[in-house]
Amino acid sequence: MQIISESSHSIHLYHDDALNCYDIWGSPIVIVSDGAYGISGFPGDPPTYESLDIWYDPHVRKWSERSTPQTTLWFWNTEIGWAIVHPVLARYGWEYRACHIWDKGIAHVAGNSNTQSLRKLPIVTEVCVQYVKRPVFHANGQQLSMRDWLRYEWERTGLPFSKTNEAAGVKDAATRKYFTKDHLWYFPPGEAFERIAAYANQFGQKQGRPYFSTDGHQPVSREQWEKLRSKFYCPIGITNVWREPPVNGEERIKRGTKAFHLNQKPIKLMERIITISSDPGDLVWEPFGGLCTAAIASHNLKRSCVATESNANIFSAAVTRLRQHVAVMRLDL
Ligand SMILES: C[S@@+](CC[C@H](N)C(=O)[O-])C[C@H]1O[C@@H](n2cnc3c(N)ncnc32)[C@H](O)[C@@H]1O
Repeated sequence: MQIISESSHSIHLYHDDALNCYDIWGSPIVIVSDGAYGISGFPGDPPTYESLDIWYDPHVRKWSERSTPQTTLWFWNTEIGWAIVHPVLARYGWEYRACHIWDKGIAHVAGNSNTQSLRKLPIVTEVCVQYVKRPVFHANGQQLSMRDWLRYEWERTGLPFSKTNEAAGVKDAATRKYFTKDHLWYFPPGEAFERIAAYANQFGQKQGRPYFSTDGHQPVSREQWEKLRSKFYCPIGITNVWREPPVNGEERIKRGTKAFHLNQKPIKLMERIITISSDPGDLVWEPFGGLCTAAIASHNLKRSCVATESNANIFSAAVTRLRQHVAVMRLDL
């Protein structure tokens, strides 16, 4: 393991299979997955996409075990690669939020596409798909979603659902949003949750108390409640289509005149996803490091990052890149 920088926002880079690392890393707020694509892109990348579900399965299982409802997973792949892996992600409790299209533009084709023989249009996109770790509640021998648990707990109080508005101190938002059964459901903010729980425990029938408790002793606190969902800071003016050319110029790591790693991602896009889903000081996981672009972005944004790369040559190129980057950042301070 190499410690590239030790500070409030450290980078720890491992030369190992990610599967050997998950149990020793701290719990992540962000996971940036940029692994196999099924295109023989690096040693160990399968030649076709059909088996990507098997390739990712043990990783996804571990991500689920080590994550909390505060964690966001960003899953980079081709469109078809993602389609193959989505059922695995869903099976291990990852909730789909949105698919972002990286449109690399026409520069990505640049005389490199025999479309007539391939009988398809040039592909200039990849996807970066956002997932969150859905919290699961246990009640009455069942597993419930947050929405269903809120309804279940309120029903136990014996109070009518119309009283949830009075409890939350709102006109009708509680019945319309926090206790609805349908897709218009919203997460109740901490303050509203706290009020609802206090009201339920004061006016709900005595024998069922405590209400809105997960430990059977006291209601979930406002602080605990706020941690039951992933972080999300919505950037202004950014949609789910990201027009950004392939990495080029100074940013592109080269061996001689050729790109060192075909999959090197733009720092700008890595910074975007990390900013959206974390705060300074949070921990980012980069299990398929390559040239460790997510580690660079994390460092720029004052997040800590643990990254690993299993290939020896790529690992040493990543170490060199990170050392240079961190040194330049220090000089710039
Ligand atoms: C798509 S590339 C990542 C590129 C990276 N995002 C960047 O910007 O440079 C995937 C990398 O993961 C590495 N890799 C594949 N399987 C791995 C595993 N099980 N553990 C650690 N690294 C792995 C590969 O050697 C490859 O360099």
